[in-house]
Amino acid sequence: MCMMQAMGAMKKGLAILGSTGSVGTQTLEVVRSFPEMFEVVGLTCDRSVELLGRQAREFGPRYFHCNGAPDEKALIAATGACERDPLLLVGEEAVDVVVTATTGDVAIAPTLAAIDAGKQIALANKETVVMAGELVTERAEMNGVDILPLDSEPNAIWQCIRGEGEGSSVSRLIITASGGALRNTPIAKLKSVTPRQALRHPTWKMGRKITVDSATLMNKAFEVIEAHWLFGVDWDDIEIVIHPQSIVHSMVEFVDGSVKAQLSPPDMRLPIQYALAYPERMANPQIARFRPTETGALTFQEWERERYPCFEMAIGFARRGGTWPAALSGANDAAVEAFLSGRIGFLEIEQVIRAALEGHRNVDIPEIGDVLDAGRDGKARVFELVEG
Ligand SMILES: NC(=O)c1ccc[n+]([C@@H]2O[C@H](COP(=O)([O-])OP(=O)(O)OC[C@H]3O[C@@H](n4cnc5c(N)ncnc54)[C@H](OP(=O)(O)O)[C@@H]3O)[C@@H](O)[C@H]2O)c1
Repeated sequence: MCMMQAMGAMKKGLAILGSTGSVGTQTLEVVRSFPEMFEVVGLTCDRSVELLGRQAREFGPRYFHCNGAPDEKALIAATGACERDPLLLVGEEAVDVVVTATTGDVAIAPTLAAIDAGKQIALANKETVVMAGELVTERAEMNGVDILPLDSEPNAIWQCIRGEGEGSSVSRLIITASGGALRNTPIAKLKSVTPRQALRHPTWKMGRKITVDSATLMNKAFEVIEAHWLFGVDWDDIEIVIHPQSIVHSMVEFVDGSVKAQLSPPDMRLPIQYALAYPERMANPQIARFRPTETGALTFQEWERERYPCFEMAIGFARRGGTWPAALSGANDAAVEAFLSGRIGFLEIEQVIRAALEGHRNVDIPEIGDVLDAGRDGKARVFELVEG
């Protein structure tokens, strides 16, 4: 076997679901930095067919999937890639790691299929664990599959816990939050905030939905839910703190009182490459280094209940279990969409979600179909309220 073949055989095969989004494009940036490490086996998107086509020409995936028209798909197929449903794509032999970077609940079924096929999951899509945390983590454990958190906060917790040995010596997780675009907006003015203002994130560049979730702190509630399921930590032992600089990505306190934190300038490429390279670390000159004296003070403050009413509401529904968190996620999707299209105000996001979930019929021990139904139910109830 020649050297190139040997290197090719050692490459990790990636299926990137949602390759045209914020996380997806940054995942491809990491691949671009380490072409000898990774092979792009499959790419998927919803409608960004032109971008998917460019990605296909550059990375030469074997498979693709999109929801575009037949003539648009033909353009991508012309690059030599075959169309493959994500449920089948994730099980392809050449795939080692499935990156779940789509928004909403579309990642759940392919994630479960990937787990059943024994593939590692590099998990960006929060909804998967928010809606189906118990199902997904149980199935992963049963199949001996690693779920590698790619989101910066759970990734930071993972980095802090790794190497601590078997058995739980963790006593508390402290998840940091930037506070989002409206952290300094006077509370009295939140009522009239526009989508444009809510989308102006102070430290991170992300997709629209998650940027609004950041401004309501729903995103932080989702991370608490993720941490509960991914690290098996009790709800009461997870807290959040506002950290405006977004340098400390989270902290873990151990039983002896020691606290470990993971620090780095805000750049999603770092947690992405950490998850993709696991169990190695890779030097990437494109990623800025933390310079303490240049960064200046790192500050932490309590989060304000009045400013972020979504947070406690969301944790309350998550703690109920069953299909409540799935309904919450669906309702939040719809409420954010309604806000972004100008149909409701910023503070109404929490109000419509709370009102919509009043009518939700919980399933105590849900199957995957119940989870997806609950998400749709939450969404439909919000749209009904908004239209009404
Ligand atoms: N952005 C971040 O920094 C960040 C950090 C941590 C976690 N996350 C999580 O990662 C996930 C993705 O976030 P993002 O900010 O990258 O979102 P985004 O920029 O909106 O990208 C979403 C991706 O999903 C695809 N997609 C959407 N609906 C789809 C459908 N029905 N079928 C197939 N593909 C679909 C989109 O395709 P089109 O381009 O065709 O629409 C796009 O590729 C979310 O769950 C988010 O909470 C994001």
